[in-house]
Formats: sequence, C-alpha cells, structure tokens
Amino acid sequence: MDLFEYQAKELFVKHGVPSSEGRVTDTAEEARAIAVEIGKPVMIKAQVKTGGRGKAGGVKYAAGPDDALTHAQNILGLDIKGHIVKKLLVAEAKDIAEEYYISFLLDRANRTYLAMCSVEGGMEIEEVAATKPERLAKVPVDAVKGVDLAFARSIAEQGHLPADVLDAAAVTIQKLWEVFIAEDATLVEVNPLVRTPDNEILALDGKVTLDENAEFRHPDHAAFADKEATDPLELKAKENDLNYVKLDGSVGIIGNGAGLVMSTLDVVAYAGANHGGVKPANFLDIGGGASAEVMAAGLDVILGDAQVKSVFVNVFGGITACDAVANGIVKALEILGATATKPLVVRLDGNRVEEGRKILAEAAHPLVTLAQTMDEGADKAAELAAAR
Ligand SMILES: Nc1ncnc2c1ncn2[C@@H]1O[C@H](COP(=O)(O)OP(=O)(O)OP(=O)(O)O)[C@@H](O)[C@H]1O
Ligand SMILES: [Mg+2]
Repeated sequence: MDLFEYQAKELFVKHGVPSSEGRVTDTAEEARAIAVEIGKPVMIKAQVKTGGRGKAGGVKYAAGPDDALTHAQNILGLDIKGHIVKKLLVAEAKDIAEEYYISFLLDRANRTYLAMCSVEGGMEIEEVAATKPERLAKVPVDAVKGVDLAFARSIAEQGHLPADVLDAAAVTIQKLWEVFIAEDATLVEVNPLVRTPDNEILALDGKVTLDENAEFRHPDHAAFADKEATDPLELKAKENDLNYVKLDGSVGIIGNGAGLVMSTLDVVAYAGANHGGVKPANFLDIGGGASAEVMAAGLDVILGDAQVKSVFVNVFGGITACDAVANGIVKALEILGATATKPLVVRLDGNRVEEGRKILAEAAHPLVTLAQTMDEGADKAAELAAAR
C-alpha cells in the first residue's frame, strides 16, 4: 500500500525522524487556519500518490495565511497526472541550504535490501541515476545486520554528503531505517532530505510503501487505507476476505483457486467473442473452503455490480467437495433471497460431482442453469449476458 506524504510523515514522527510541523486538510479555509496556527511561512503541498507534484504546480510557498488560502484554492482540484487533488498538507516552510536524496527499498533482483543516497537531491532521482550515476550511491543492506549509526554514516558518505553533515545525517538515516523495518515497508524514500542553514537534517518529503503481507502485524495500518479511492465492491470483498478484482465486462465469475479463476476468465472472454464481445466482469476466488457464507458473500459482491448481467460459477471440488459447494450455492441463494436477480450458470466437477449436481437439480432454482463442462458453462453465461 502506497501512503500519502502526510501519512508517511506520521510514521516519521512516530519514529523520531525530524521533519517539518504540519497538518492535512481538504479545504482552503482550513489551510489558512493551519497557516495561522503555525505562525510562520508554510508550504502548501498537494497530497496525491504520484511523483512530480512540485513541477505540476502542486507545491507552493506561502509567506502568510492569505497566500496559503490562495494557493490552497488553486491546488485543490488540480489534476496531477490523472490524480485529482483532494487533500493538502500545510507544513512549516524550512530554510534550505542543500537538498539530498535517501531511500531504503526492497531489491528483489538481488534478494536484499538497498539503500540509495545522493547529494543531488530535490530533482527526480531517475535523472540523477541517468546523468550522474557516480553521484548516486547504491548500498546493499544485510537484512539481519540492518543499519546502525556507523553504517548510516557510511551510506551518507558514499552518497557524497558533505563531511560536516555526516554525523547529523547518520542519525536521520538510521531512524528512517527503523521506519522501514518497524513498519514493514518495502520503500521509504525522502527527496529532499535537507540541510538547514544551522545544519539540521530534515525529511521534507516522504514516500512510503507498506508491505500488505505484513498487515496482520500492524492493525494500525488499516487507518491508512484510502477508502474513497477504493472501488466500493472491492472494499466489500476485502471486508469478507474475498480475493476480488473488478474488471469491466458483464459476466460475473466465481471460482475456487486463482489458477482456475484465471483460466475461467480466458474461457469466458473466448466464448464471449461469439456473443458480441461479452467479457468477464471480475476475478473472484472464493478459495478452498467454499462455505455457504463465503458463496453468499461472493455472490452478493458480484450481484452488486450493476454491469453484471450473468454469473458463471466454476468450481472444481477438491478438499471441499462438490456437494458442499452445491449446498453452499443453494443456501447462498436463500440468504440473498430477492436480491439475487441475475441468471447463474454453475459448472461443478471433481470430488463428489454427482451428489453436487443432484442437489442443484433438486433445488431447481429458477435462476440456476447447470453446465456439464467449463466451455459449455462459459458459452451459456456469455449468451445469457448478451441477451440482457
Ligand atoms: N517544508 C518545506 N519547507 C521548505 N521547502 C519545501 C518544504 N517541502 C517541500 N519543499 C520544497 O519543495 C520541493 C518539492 O517538494 P516535494 O519534494 O515534497 O515534492 P515533489 O518532489 O515535487 O513531489 P514528488 O515527491 O511527488 O515528486 C522540495 O524539493 C523543496 O525544495
Ligand atoms: Mg520530492
């Protein structure tokens, strides 16, 4: 999960990384009020999850509250590379003597962590890497040894930071490493890391990516989720622990196991070509234990998608046998009652398939059509979607 700058800075504060005082808001009037509170010149900074905000006019200096109001009015609603600015960070403007670059990241290719550091901060780091590669230090970090103060100092030195700031920079860099490890991040990037005229080292920008696989260790990270930007159906699926991705077709898909669901998408898209180009509406893997509740939650999510015209349930009975899945479907339709209004094509195969088919045949739900094979099911679901 990528964080907004203001969220990254919350983590910086938590781990004692020196930054600049600030607060986030979504109105220009409050931006003015925050500037009054801070009582010094401020920076008005667009909060969007993309780079190059400054260049796009999303980062402005405001000498006083009235300036802050004007800039905030101009920046709110700005389109930065397709991201509309809805929030602003109002942060104390610091005097800057020099701008540096520092980051920690997961270096997958080398199966290690990597620190990158450069005295050439402020600008895009890709440009430094391309034009002055010798000015950008890339220092592998041993996951077990980590980064102590001496190593942090060496990273700063290799990045060509001036000798008189190495000690102060080492302290900040070491704390950024603590953020990286303690918060289970895959990226902590500060550009610029600045030196003030009185030799303080401050993180004036922050990009943090958190490792979602470590979410279970960080219940507090849930608060960082950008609910507004998340598709409401994906949110609902997440709340039910379903593996769901919304696509833009009209045939809803439910299957068990990621591989089966992916091939189901292919088969439906292929069959759809014969029915006016009908396409899958989603990826939904209900996993191994397809209980009635999970099936109901899955169907509920898919039927909530207005674009869905038909649903193809494609299940291969393994540990969870077909009769259990069939019972799940029947009970799910009972749970959903009148909210289930779209035709369902069900293909079952594998463990206890005959029993499963029998249960569905006997239930004879008016919305359910049984298919014998995956191809037949895909074709039927596509045909039903095209007809509606
Ligand atoms: N609190 C601050 N005080 C003084 N100057 C600041 C402050 N925050 C940012 N700046 C100046 O604005 C420039 C751009 O800010 P910042 O790095 O946060 O955004 P950006 O780099 O344009 O955006 P992105 O990081 O998304 O590419 C900085 O390089 C710095 O010169
Ligand atoms: Mg920056």
